[in-house]
Amino acid sequence: MSIDTHQVSSVNWENGTIKLLDQQKLPHETIFLTLQTIEDVRDAISSLKVRGAPAIGITAAFGLALWGQQYEGESLEGFLHELQEKRNYLASSRPTAVNLFWALDRLLSSVEGITSVSEGRTLLLEEALKIQIEDEEVCRSIGEHAVTLFTSGDRILTHCNAGGIATAKYGTAVAPFYIAKERDIPLHIYASETRPVLQGARLTAWELQNAGIDVTLITDNMAAHTIATKNINAIIVGADRIAANGDTANKIGTYGLALLARAFDIPFYVAAPLSTFDLSISSGTEIPIEERDPREVTELNGQRIAPEGVKVFNPAFDVTPHELITAIITEKGIVSGNYVEKLAEIIE
Ligand code: MRU
Repeated sequence: MSIDTHQVSSVNWENGTIKLLDQQKLPHETIFLTLQTIEDVRDAISSLKVRGAPAIGITAAFGLALWGQQYEGESLEGFLHELQEKRNYLASSRPTAVNLFWALDRLLSSVEGITSVSEGRTLLLEEALKIQIEDEEVCRSIGEHAVTLFTSGDRILTHCNAGGIATAKYGTAVAPFYIAKERDIPLHIYASETRPVLQGARLTAWELQNAGIDVTLITDNMAAHTIATKNINAIIVGADRIAANGDTANKIGTYGLALLARAFDIPFYVAAPLSTFDLSISSGTEIPIEERDPREVTELNGQRIAPEGVKVFNPAFDVTPHELITAIITEKGIVSGNYVEKLAEIIE
């Protein structure tokens, strides 16, 4: 049975637990995990059972709320002290996507001025649910803006998975594809497989195919040839953190695609919610880039493909300099040109 995947919610609060779509098992199995402790939540984020910047933020927020519901003490001081510790514990799960810290800090702010532990518990959960609801609206709005950049028959390349399962709903870079589909605007999507963890092959191809959107899978090293021979009109990707000058961290391989877009003179778009912007850093050089287990590179499906003992470099993200980005699409509109000024304006 095919599922309308943009209706599948990858993370949900359910009966005092977190119901999470295990993205590591896709596309072969659609399994929902029940996260019952804050340790389960940290593990789910660091092991990529949930991934994608907004979904990581939502899950972490539910994780902190979950801890709050289970807190048994009555001392307000003890509660607030431990809350900060648990915030730091969840914040240590992955370093690059700023939505993680943004969501956790929103929960911390929501309990400022509380007078009892029970008030704290209620407010933490309310704030986490609010983040999830808002993200759906925000992604819809990103999609509405982004779809105006494309016309019927366009062939568009996307990388990694910035789809519905990486957010509350709709996705960011993928949101315009769903809206185009709703409006009967045919678009042809090329998804790059996204080595080493294969989010493009396993997740984007699955998600778009299930939604009845025309999608063709390519390996990462086929991008230049595909742009040249299939007349790709544009590239659109998501983001994990965007600095004040527009420099954008996204899945490893994004920078190379931006360079290709420049070489082929086609637009390169980034779609991201305001929760992905980090105006506290002036440029992308300050973005921490996660390096992951070498086995992601030396093994395929648990099968060794590289010689034992070989040195491995496995950065999970790269930073695309702002001058290669044609425009950034946010829920508040499309930004291009002088990012320093325009991002500051839009975020205020
Ligand atoms: O390592 P991942 O799978 O969490 O990386 C995800 C990405 O790079 C996405 O493009 C980004 O988070 C945007 S998701 C809407």
